[in-house]
Amino acid sequence: MRILVTGGAGYVGSHAVPKLRAAGHDVWVYDNLSRGHREATDETRLIVGDLGNGELLAGAMREQRIDAVMNFAAVALVGESVVDPSLYYQTNVAGTLSLLDAMRTAGVARIVHSSTTAVVGAPEASPIPESVPRAAINPYGRSKAMVEAILEDYASAYGIAATALRYFNAAGASASGEFGEDHEPETHLIPITLSVALGQRPHLTIFGDDYPTPDGTCVRDYVHVEDLASAHLLALEKLQAGRLQVFNLGMGRGYSIREVVEACRRVTGHAIPVVEAPRRPGDPPSLVADATRARTELGWTPAYDTLDKIVATAWNWHQSHPRGYAP
Ligand code: UFG
Repeated sequence: MRILVTGGAGYVGSHAVPKLRAAGHDVWVYDNLSRGHREATDETRLIVGDLGNGELLAGAMREQRIDAVMNFAAVALVGESVVDPSLYYQTNVAGTLSLLDAMRTAGVARIVHSSTTAVVGAPEASPIPESVPRAAINPYGRSKAMVEAILEDYASAYGIAATALRYFNAAGASASGEFGEDHEPETHLIPITLSVALGQRPHLTIFGDDYPTPDGTCVRDYVHVEDLASAHLLALEKLQAGRLQVFNLGMGRGYSIREVVEACRRVTGHAIPVVEAPRRPGDPPSLVADATRARTELGWTPAYDTLDKIVATAWNWHQSHPRGYAP
């Protein structure tokens, strides 16, 4: 298939593009490089543009005779969304709406969209199935929940085949050592913890140790970025016209912040000092996936089944790229 990958120079997108190419798909990346990296993608197949530029998008889809879109383009930081909700609604909601209308203009009727478990907020259920109601607790989650609702309406009204993949916590780096996680500023737990091991920061700050979890710190379900990428390939094959399908992507096992720090200590062999600080606004206590549906209906079998394996790939990347993609 000829696939337009929006956000293909970003963290998850840059890991998906090589997998799509290896599977024989013809890929164009569309990215405004606001969060993505030129170095993370093949420049000869890159269109630089905003999601909001519907004319450029529709033109590219027509010109390249695109069959399907994979939409990774988004802003995705819970904390930032609390401080700057406008950025989140503009980029994620208005941007995706512009993308969907460009698809209609160009006659493209297939989309695999990056969603997030943040759409369900902080549900009682653990593990969390797809069936819990959307009840986001921060602007990021609400922006992504709105997009799921829009996809539902567009699928039924316009016959679009849509799948939303609800990521839990994306982590790790490519096995090849070529691609990895590079956010500016970095706010994610694993890269920050590894930067302490690299001597770039004096300690990790743990945001909140009074949550209703076994050790008081937040529990998350870490899933390898290449396993997320392989789920996208499977989802593409299983798209169904006229409906939105939703799949959780997580390992079904939660790790507390302290357990993540322990894993980083084991993998790196470095003492990683920690200090405790108050909670970070917008953080739910525990998010663990029930990903049975992805396993049974998509045939998804994630390869990285322990946190140590995931952290080892991240450590490999951060050691060889201490400044990320910067030279
Ligand atoms: N944390 C710290 N110290 C840090 C950084 C993070 O204690 O220096 C804590 C956070 O407060 C949180 C946990 O580590 O409790 C994980 O935080 P991340 O920032 O790594 O990830 P989030 O769970 O906030 O969010 C990520 C993605 C979202 C996605 C969500 C789904 O960034 O896009 O996972 O679970 F929605």
